[in-house]
Amino acid sequence: MNINVTILGIETSCDDTSIAISENNILLSNVIANQDIHKKYGGVVPELASRSHQTNIIPVLKEALYLAKKDIKEIDAIAFTLGPGLLGSLLVGTSFAKGLSIALNKPLIEINHIQGHVLSHYVVEPAKEKELPPFPHLCLLISGGHTQLITVNSPYEMYIIGTTIDDAAGEAFDKGAKMLKFDYPGGPIIDNIARNGNAYKFNFPKPNVKGLDFSFSGIKTSLLYFIRDNLKNNANFIEENLYDICASYQRVIAEILVEKAVLAVKQTGINTITLSGGVSANSEIRKQFLFLKEKNINVFLPEIKFTTDNAAMIAVAGFYKYLKSAFCNLNVSPYAKFNLL
Ligand code: KG4
Ligand code: ZN
Repeated sequence: MNINVTILGIETSCDDTSIAISENNILLSNVIANQDIHKKYGGVVPELASRSHQTNIIPVLKEALYLAKKDIKEIDAIAFTLGPGLLGSLLVGTSFAKGLSIALNKPLIEINHIQGHVLSHYVVEPAKEKELPPFPHLCLLISGGHTQLITVNSPYEMYIIGTTIDDAAGEAFDKGAKMLKFDYPGGPIIDNIARNGNAYKFNFPKPNVKGLDFSFSGIKTSLLYFIRDNLKNNANFIEENLYDICASYQRVIAEILVEKAVLAVKQTGINTITLSGGVSANSEIRKQFLFLKEKNINVFLPEIKFTTDNAAMIAVAGFYKYLKSAFCNLNVSPYAKFNLL
């Protein structure tokens, strides 16, 4: 491909401030500033998130340029997350991107955060060989805010074929973790504790949702009642069974996801599944999906560092849009709810 393009990617949709730089779609840097401030509140506090983005975004940009060995003037286009996400957070990244676009006189590319997650599999790092998922494929996007099955025909054409009717998979983890008195985000904590547990000690009911849609509010509530009922008989029930509770709860969430993904393969005839989003870092989910290879389903697991929010995936989505000159105007405004694809 005879093109020389350097993309700056900006991601501020939730509580991670991230900026990445790619050259001809090879990732040169991907800097992420996490916001620990939300831990003690048990969830992301939108106003604190916006303020932290304001504090972090300039140092993150400087570090991204430094690591990429690039001068800001070498940037050819600015790709940024326009939505969905927290409005106040999105406004910081969007305004920053617009300011850079005017100052550098370079085009702006708006990116849908969900498409970014889907395309995270196409992040390529220098001197690293990696097999890229073929098109079409199915993507199971599992994050703190979304649980979606998506047919991905190309970097430009994606269709949602299944979604959650209530909570996202990440919420099942985070809210379940809260019941067990863990900090936010609880998903990684459950994952770690579950490593020492018996995943078949307890059972939780699976939702009965037709088709390719998901539901996670039922399993969350059943964990609540399960804890409440057992505490009545034994005040130390949680402490004595923590490993097994986490392992069993996590195992059932993974099974729900696998069963729907297999149904999607059957219904669409598309035999390749990719996982993306923060929850795809979960070790039990990864293990259960890898088993599908034995059923002749191609499975692509994302590298852990590209599962949670990052700007590398935004730079990839930006690169593909750049190839089509799909630029946006300076008057675009962020959207909180999912309204693209
Ligand atoms: O994609 P992401 O960074 O942000 C959203 O766009 O929502 O996903 C964050 C979610 C949180 O719910 C977090 O608990 C979950 O990903 N998560 C995990 C793990 N690592 C992150 N859930 C289960 N197991 C993990 N290892
Ligand atoms: Zn995300």
